[in-house]
Amino acid sequence: MTRFRFYTASSIDGFLADAADNLDWLFTQPIDENGPLNYKEFIADVGVVVMGATTYEWILARNARTGEAWQYTQPTWIFTHRQLRPIAENVHIVAGEPTDFRQTLIDAAGDKDVWIVGGGDLATQFADAGLLDDLVICYAPVTLGAGRPLFTKPYDLELRELDRNKAFIMARYDVVGARQ
Ligand SMILES: NC(=O)c1ccc[n+]([C@@H]2O[C@H](COP(=O)([O-])OP(=O)(O)OC[C@H]3O[C@@H](n4cnc5c(N)ncnc54)[C@H](OP(=O)(O)O)[C@@H]3O)[C@@H](O)[C@H]2O)c1
Repeated sequence: MTRFRFYTASSIDGFLADAADNLDWLFTQPIDENGPLNYKEFIADVGVVVMGATTYEWILARNARTGEAWQYTQPTWIFTHRQLRPIAENVHIVAGEPTDFRQTLIDAAGDKDVWIVGGGDLATQFADAGLLDDLVICYAPVTLGAGRPLFTKPYDLELRELDRNKAFIMARYDVVGARQ
């Protein structure tokens, strides 16, 4: 059955990026790509990618700088209220509630999972819609003090896996529900 999953790196004080959308603090950290809860194993089960406009534009800007091509072979849904240009044929630019896209995303994922790349507010919208099964958080040994939050509402989670991958604390949580 298709799972909706939020796999992300975070500072230990719960930010996905600093206030200027900078991720330099993340890419300098050592990680074993074959280690616990690694990205390679995670992405092998992903059939659909979902992200917000800030994350999309950040990836496009980085690719323009590095010359890298669009990373995702999976069909991808970008949430934005603007008319952004899709960078590939299987990139869909959409607006609306996560529930509006529930069946489309499940059908497109086939027997694989839906990856909510971020940001935190979009992941929270999916959780509010009952469309978030778990979070895998790769905690870097950094505090940022401010920036783009991991989640934007109070939620209860249940810790299901915990390990170390070089500099990172790797933690997988099931979503229990919004805190009352
Ligand atoms: N640490 C990591 O592993 C990691 C992972 C993911 C992202 N990031 C970084 O974290 C930052 C995330 O930024 P963020 O949390 O501010 O943003 P984000 O989710 O990437 O983008 C927010 C934007 O998404 C659009 N949006 C969200 N919900 C929508 C909806 N229901 N319908 C239509 N549009 C919707 C809006 O775009 P419009 O303003 O265009 O309407 C909104 O401004 C970025 O810098 C990203 O690169 C880091």
